[in-house]
Amino acid sequence: MFIRNGLRYVDAKSISVLEIGFGTGLNCFITLLEAGKKVDYVGVEAYPVAKEEVEKLNYVVELEAQDKETLFEKIHEVSWEEKQDITPDFSLTKRKQFFAEITDENYFDLIYFDAFGAKVQPNLWTEDIFKIMFAALKPEGVLVTYSAKGSVRRAMQAVDFDVERLPGPPGKREMLRATKVSGE
Ligand SMILES: C[S@@+](CC[C@H](N)C(=O)[O-])C[C@H]1O[C@@H](n2cnc3c(N)ncnc32)[C@H](O)[C@@H]1O
Repeated sequence: MFIRNGLRYVDAKSISVLEIGFGTGLNCFITLLEAGKKVDYVGVEAYPVAKEEVEKLNYVVELEAQDKETLFEKIHEVSWEEKQDITPDFSLTKRKQFFAEITDENYFDLIYFDAFGAKVQPNLWTEDIFKIMFAALKPEGVLVTYSAKGSVRRAMQAVDFDVERLPGPPGKREMLRATKVSGE
């Protein structure tokens, strides 16, 4: 859904993506598989997951992407804190950082906001955090997330995002897409 409502929605030949919660690198890998455009990907994660733990999850087999296994390994092997080329069209910067410490400005076209849910970590679904996300996006940039809670939507609107509620796939959660509308 991050792909359909985010990656495919942003109409550009090259795109910068910020992932909030790099975790196991699954969204990063799927983005690499599906991109069809040049991607500058930044994954922020305060608690990096060990490569051995990630391998146990068997993503490559589940995604039937055995021919891309070396790329999945490369995502996990490259060092943190510097931009690394995974393919000529896909660069990755893994940053060990708390979300509240993000200071990028007008840089990203797209944010995958994949933090744990508001029930688990309410402090991550606040105006303070969305203000940081708003600043990090370029004008017309979008943030997508799995949550359609009214309180989350209101926190986004309070920092000037234009917010749409999007249906999830059958039986799945709805999503929100927040756009940094320029000129507001
Ligand atoms: C839902 S998981 C992300 C899953 C990930 N997108 C993937 O593809 O595997 C949320 C992630 O946010 C990280 N996290 C939680 N609080 C954080 C914070 N305040 N700053 C940075 N990372 C945080 C967690 O360690 C976890 O990996």
